[in-house]
Amino acid sequence: MRVLVTRRWPHVVERTLRERFDVVLNETDVPLGQADLADAMRDFDVLAPTVSDRIDAEVIAAADRCRLIANYGVGFDHIDIAAASAKGIAVTNTPGVLTDATADLALTLMLMTARRAGEGERELRVGRWTGWRPTHMIGSGLKGKVLGVVGMGRIGMATARRARMGFGMDIIYHSRSAKREAEALDAKFCADLHSLLAKSDFVSLHVPGGRHTKNLIDAAAIRAMKPGSYLINTARGAVLDHAALAQALASGHLAGAGLDVYPDEPHVPPELLGLENLVMLPHLGSATAEAREAMGRRALANIDAFAKGEPLPDPVT
Ligand code: DGY
Repeated sequence: MRVLVTRRWPHVVERTLRERFDVVLNETDVPLGQADLADAMRDFDVLAPTVSDRIDAEVIAAADRCRLIANYGVGFDHIDIAAASAKGIAVTNTPGVLTDATADLALTLMLMTARRAGEGERELRVGRWTGWRPTHMIGSGLKGKVLGVVGMGRIGMATARRARMGFGMDIIYHSRSAKREAEALDAKFCADLHSLLAKSDFVSLHVPGGRHTKNLIDAAAIRAMKPGSYLINTARGAVLDHAALAQALASGHLAGAGLDVYPDEPHVPPELLGLENLVMLPHLGSATAEAREAMGRRALANIDAFAKGEPLPDPVT
């Protein structure tokens, strides 16, 4: 069985893959173009892409041979699932194994924005720090503040747990339905998104990407946010209107924002670059050694099951 892996994986998982299958690894680690991806669909039984590959209908249309797309990652909005299933190609992902890493990063961004850590580091590195003073770079504490979680799936719940148990925040959340597990955190369900936005001191986005959530946090939603609040996005860039965000940060309507994801990565909307009250990271949500290895093992488990004709552990529909 021939497998094409589009980017480098952690060494130990690459080695196991090579032992088990006829694998071609993209040693350059530079993203493949659409034509190369289409060629892969013709020549390989399994394509193992990542969030940095666009597996659209055109790429899928070329699939003479490919029967499994084993995504290395949990989000799959970069794959045209309908086109794949119309062609009889199964798609799998790697759920669960990057939950803690991503929730940790959401908290990192909350702390960085609330405590102005990026701004402080920049000031120090350019030699503008003049020493300690009582009024220098004052931020906000987290204890007793309201965190509004938008999307209470695995990562939303793990973020809420950290915020509640570790930092004493009050949790409200917006999701398709109320969650039993949230009761242990005293988290209150909020059916109306805009009322959650109006009540929250911090809003953290954890919805999946795709057409249902595109521009969910648009200009009207940003206007509905509590003045002086903070917005954190570790989900997908397309969920958020970045022009409206930039305006709200520049006007002071929002005190700060922390972003890990962007609509057209690695391009970063230029209007964001000069904003001091914005922390930006380069899509690091799952970037721990533990999570990246576990993601590889999970993708491998799906490829293994496919090769043996067994039920796929993590099918995406
Ligand atoms: C995912 O898995 O969807 C992340 O965004 C990349 O790790």
